[in-house]
Amino acid sequence: MSKKELQVAIDGPASAGKSTVAKKIAHRFKYVYCDTGAMYRTVTLKAMRENVALDDPEALAKMLTKTEITFKPGNPEQLVFLDGQEVTMAIRQPDVTNNVSTVAAQGTVRADLTNRQRQIAEAGGIVMDGRDIGTSVLPDAEVKIFLVASVEERAQRRFKDNAEKGIHTPIETLKKEIETRDHKDSTRAISPLTQAKDAIRLDTTALSIDEVVAKISDIIVQKRKEI
Ligand code: DC
Repeated sequence: MSKKELQVAIDGPASAGKSTVAKKIAHRFKYVYCDTGAMYRTVTLKAMRENVALDDPEALAKMLTKTEITFKPGNPEQLVFLDGQEVTMAIRQPDVTNNVSTVAAQGTVRADLTNRQRQIAEAGGIVMDGRDIGTSVLPDAEVKIFLVASVEERAQRRFKDNAEKGIHTPIETLKKEIETRDHKDSTRAISPLTQAKDAIRLDTTALSIDEVVAKISDIIVQKRKEI
C-alpha cells in the first residue's frame, strides 16, 4: 500500500454537512482540516469592520495584502484568527453570513484565497471543504466528494447549529437565506459551485453524520490502496 497521504476535497452547498463531516474525516485519518468557507467569512468580516466596499475587487485585494488568516486546533471547534485576533464566533454571525457571497464573487479575493489554500494543501494529508475545491483549488485531489441535501433539511440543520450558538433565526428565514446563497454561489462568474466531473455525489438528506463519514472513509481507504 502506498504511504502517500491524500488530498480530500469536500464541496457542496451551504449547510449540506460539509464541515461536520470533513472534521470527523480529518480526525479519523489524522489529516489537517481546512475550512475554506471560514476564510471567505474572515475576509468579509475584516472588510465590514474596515468599511471596505464588499464589491470592490481592488480595495479588497489591497486589504488582503495586509491580512493574516490562521487556524488553531480548538475544542469542539477549530479556532479562526484574523490578524492574530480570534474571530471564530464573529464570522458565524448573520451579517457576515448574508454578505459573504458578495465578497466570494470577487476574482481578486478568490485568486488570493485559492493561493493560500493550495499552500496549505501542498503536502497532502488534508481534508478541505468549500465550493470549488474539487473544480478549482485542488483539481488533482485524489478524493472528491460533492455533498448535497434538500433545502428543508439544510435549514433544519442550520437552525440547530444556530440555537447552540445562541442565534435565533426562524426556519423560513433560514430557508430563504440558503436559497439565496445557493443561487449566488452557483451562478457567479468565477469558480461557481458545481460538481467536479470526477466527484462522487452523496445526498445526505436521509443519512446520519456517522453514515456519511463511514461512506467517505471507505472511499479514502479504497483510494489509498489504489495509489
Ligand atoms: O461554507 P460556508 O457557509 O462557511 O461558506 C461561506 C461562503 O463562502 C459561501 O456563501 C460561499 C463562499 N465560499 C466559496 O465561494 N468558496 C469556497 N471554497 C468556500 C466558501
